[in-house]
Amino acid sequence: MKFAVLGTGMVGSAVGNRLRSFGHEVVFGSRKAGGEKDGIPLLSHAEAVPGAEMVVLAMPGEQVVETLEGLPLAGKIVIDISNYDHAVDQPITDPLGETVQRAHPEAKVVKALDSVSAHLMVDPQSLGAPHTVFVAGNDDSAKAEVSDLLRSFGWEDIIDLGDLSAVRAMEQLIPLWMALEKVLGGPNFNLAVVRGPQPAK
Ligand SMILES: NC(=O)c1ccc[n+]([C@@H]2O[C@H](COP(=O)([O-])OP(=O)(O)OC[C@H]3O[C@@H](n4cnc5c(N)ncnc54)[C@H](OP(=O)(O)O)[C@@H]3O)[C@@H](O)[C@H]2O)c1
Repeated sequence: MKFAVLGTGMVGSAVGNRLRSFGHEVVFGSRKAGGEKDGIPLLSHAEAVPGAEMVVLAMPGEQVVETLEGLPLAGKIVIDISNYDHAVDQPITDPLGETVQRAHPEAKVVKALDSVSAHLMVDPQSLGAPHTVFVAGNDDSAKAEVSDLLRSFGWEDIIDLGDLSAVRAMEQLIPLWMALEKVLGGPNFNLAVVRGPQPAK
């Protein structure tokens, strides 16, 4: 599979390196095009996207829409891991995942991993206990492909929250994540959804 990972920070590096270690073809889309990082070519965003089958959004949410403007995303799966920085302490007016989908109606946007610490995204089993990742998107086959990818990273408990209207809930988990990181003293944690039997309808 051919991936363009947009953003070379903690998330982009973790995801890009893991994908490459699995033998996928990976390029970074970066503002610092030229050369490579960890053996992965550093291209401009415009160079990185056309050849990719899946595009990973790993940059500050505030920059996503502008960066994607004019890029050929039609038909591609877009895995949106990004959050608005301002979601930490302000309400979200337009959830990012839905905004990206509106701007690129032919893309298949799947929100995933945005409330998971970067190192756990690609190595969930290192936590040593079961925990949960959420996905949401309008295209079921794209969600299935992203879920397969997550399983390849080691995820077992994947909850499909439905269409992109669920990204508001996902993106609003960020203040909780920040509060937990503060009291737990670091990012080595995640949420786990414990299910019991549901009442009969
Ligand atoms: N860190 C986590 O544990 C974590 C967990 C869940 C979700 N997220 C979300 O994932 C995204 C990336 O997080 P991160 O921690 O990797 O962030 P980061 O370390 O700040 O890296 C973001 C990358 O985005 C690119 N970037 C920065 N400013 C930009 C701009 N103005 N225009 C275009 N690209 C820009 C940069 O790559 P280039 O310099 O190569 O362009 C930068 O390395 C964020 O939306 C964050 O909320 C992070």
